[in-house]
Amino acid sequence: MKNFISVNDVENIDALVAKALHFKESPLANINLGKNKKIGLLFLNPSLRTRISTQIAAQNLGTEAIVFNIDKEGWALEFAEGAIMNGTTVEHVKDAAPLLGTYFNIICIRTFPSLKNRSDDYAETVINAFIKYAGVPIVSLESATLHPLQSLTDIITIKENMPEGRRPKIVLSWAPHIKPLPQCVANSFAQWINKWGQADFVITHPDGYALDTQFTEGAEISHHQEEALANADFVYVKNWSSYNNYGAMPPVTGNWMPDAKKMAITNQAKIMHCLPVRRNVELSDEVLDSPDSLVTQQGSNRVWAAQAVLAELLQSI
Ligand code: CP
Repeated sequence: MKNFISVNDVENIDALVAKALHFKESPLANINLGKNKKIGLLFLNPSLRTRISTQIAAQNLGTEAIVFNIDKEGWALEFAEGAIMNGTTVEHVKDAAPLLGTYFNIICIRTFPSLKNRSDDYAETVINAFIKYAGVPIVSLESATLHPLQSLTDIITIKENMPEGRRPKIVLSWAPHIKPLPQCVANSFAQWINKWGQADFVITHPDGYALDTQFTEGAEISHHQEEALANADFVYVKNWSSYNNYGAMPPVTGNWMPDAKKMAITNQAKIMHCLPVRRNVELSDEVLDSPDSLVTQQGSNRVWAAQAVLAELLQSI
């Protein structure tokens, strides 16, 4: 593995999941792997889970992780080639990234989309600039379009809760929110589940919320949430804004928040959400607080996903 930006960087998903589960059993199994190495965790956006779980993962590998909130503590970065920097940006990524590459053996970075300019966001300008200029492996802690560490965690959690002896049905369901959110988690979950190929996979969302087909191809798409939920074993709930009418929130008919009544249609499905979740907007209290909710297990598994990925990269440098 050279970088960890999407599922396309992973040769064998099952092997990576097995590695993560091995670390869950024995967190300090490779405590010397990262000795004398340094990992940079660069944040352009807020985080609870990603930030803390990746720090713990690095520590379990004997590596020092240094967190830098670029958006609050760093100089405003410029990404445009040939920019005349007489505005608000202070430092070009062409200058910052190679320097950071001398400080760190691996750079992990979180950035969000603007949700204003689709072609800029889907070009992954920030992550690709760091890959181009840093000269060390780059790990996405969530990018403009994808959240691969979350998706690896999601598959680890699904593996731990698989029904005996049969292929599960997994439903990714859109849910309401009060403001436009990125498509990253949904894009990435679809991409990983499709490549993993070990489940029947349905994506359900209202009209106007179709995701980019480069990620969803292979999944069944339904605009009828209750039909989609029938016999589901896992229901992954997430809001996202429109991809086609980029960043907009087209009006929605009906109530799309999964509640206990809707969950009764399923095969006593396990409920998943990447967190943070807006209670009683995206998901009801009764569902989140039920024994079928996996959200804490998911969040906890973020450590083992990050540790598996960092271990792969440390082994390759
Ligand atoms: N799920 C997730 O990435 O959470 P944070 O934004 O808190 O890191």
